[in-house]
Amino acid sequence: MHEKDGPGRSAGPVTVLVPAAGRGVRLGADEPKAFVPVGGTPMLGLAVNGLMASGVVDEIIVMVPAELVDTATALVAPAAPVRVVVGGVERTDSVRAGLAAAGDSAYFLVHDAARALTPPALIARVVAELRAGHRAVVPALPVVDTVKTVDSAGTVTGTPDRGALRAIQTPQGFTAEVLRAAYAHPEGATDDAGLVERLGVAVRTIAGDPLAFKITTPLDLHLAEAVLDGTAAVRSC
Ligand code: C5P
Repeated sequence: MHEKDGPGRSAGPVTVLVPAAGRGVRLGADEPKAFVPVGGTPMLGLAVNGLMASGVVDEIIVMVPAELVDTATALVAPAAPVRVVVGGVERTDSVRAGLAAAGDSAYFLVHDAARALTPPALIARVVAELRAGHRAVVPALPVVDTVKTVDSAGTVTGTPDRGALRAIQTPQGFTAEVLRAAYAHPEGATDDAGLVERLGVAVRTIAGDPLAFKITTPLDLHLAEAVLDGTAAVRSC
């Protein structure tokens, strides 16, 4: 990782890895989360449609539970060029499976299927930053709640300065070299950029978008439904 950020890395295809193999325990639905419909379309379908609508994506690889490969293929195949592979137990296992299935690409985005309403313009902005020479790019939003650290008994041990905190979204974008190096040791991070940070690579934040929220709980699902049917207006940045 000697190369510094800078101009000159603009060419080359963009492959998106879409982790969609989670069980979605917190959502409490009967099927794995990415297959739960929002406004009549499974989250995975909405996420892939958004990626294709961005106009900046060359290939999409979707990682799903083994028993849902056929279902996923039927869902996303019309939106070629999309491939479906089997994911893993943890999200990092799923991303690693997608990376193994991918060919030579200049850039990778990793984008949660659960961020089904992500505006195509945000996807395009992440790719533009990569093409401008940044090796790792993540969308970020200011944190609205005060955040505290606690010990195992739940007693507060600290209050980080909220002004320095950001909530990180996807798509997260990387050069192929950086993402593959990060996944050589994919333990112990809750996002892909967390692995990249350990390499000493600068991770650039850009303005995220409220509509890129991750559908995690039943309340999130209600919000997503309301956004799609127009009863909740969430302004895209
Ligand atoms: O569980 P969480 O909401 O953080 O998952 C984020 C994304 O990662 C979801 O789209 C989920 O389907 C995916 N995932 C995966 N493989 C896992 C766990 C989560 O692809 N083993």
